[in-house]
Amino acid sequence: MNLIQACIFDLDGVIVDTAVYHYQAWKRLANELGFDFTEEDNEKLKGVSRMASLDLILQWGGLTKTHAEKEVLATLKNTWYVDMIAKMTPAEVLPGAREFVESCKASGIKTALGSASKNSETILAKVGISHLFDVVIDGNKVSKPKPDPEVFLKGAEELHIAARNCVVFEDAIAGLEAAKNAGMLAVGIGSPKTLIQADLVVSGLDQMDSKKLIDLGLLIQ
Ligand code: BG6
Ligand code: MG
Repeated sequence: MNLIQACIFDLDGVIVDTAVYHYQAWKRLANELGFDFTEEDNEKLKGVSRMASLDLILQWGGLTKTHAEKEVLATLKNTWYVDMIAKMTPAEVLPGAREFVESCKASGIKTALGSASKNSETILAKVGISHLFDVVIDGNKVSKPKPDPEVFLKGAEELHIAARNCVVFEDAIAGLEAAKNAGMLAVGIGSPKTLIQADLVVSGLDQMDSKKLIDLGLLIQ
């Protein structure tokens, strides 16, 4: 018997690779403000909310802005980002993601999206997978950013599944911390060297299967 009753997926970096679009839009903003940042710095923005990302970038550029100025800059970045995601197609779903979520549903496991992004619904619709998630919790529905567990606890609540029977799939350290703070199992998507909080690390959802999910369920006390 599988003790896992729900799988909760982060979006950016787990289901789709929108990180590259976030990076291009933030880089353009930084460049227009007169500085640049590296792809390595960009890693620190993964899983981080829009405003918190802007704060980090301004810090890297040594700039201080008022709240009103930051609102303008974040909106400008989002306009460029929205232009890019408007062109996304189903081919941009990461390898194995669609198949794994479908296999969860087929075996009676509930599915939820748990993302910091306020653009989640648009992205899911553009890549044609909105129907794969029983529940979508995103940046529009939560007030506390990851590593706060709010996004995942809300997902479990809306699915009517206990937190201990949920497993979260995350590519960001802050996201894995949020899963652990929620009392959930956590699968890291990426490298075991960086994703040390995870109960299991795989390079992508194409490396997940029902056997690994059942084995994970055995960790539930
Ligand atoms: C997260 C991304 O999923 O969403 C972050 O990893 C991003 O890079 C955050 O900043 C917020 O996204 P959005 O679409 O609301 O600006
Ligand atoms: Mg992510």
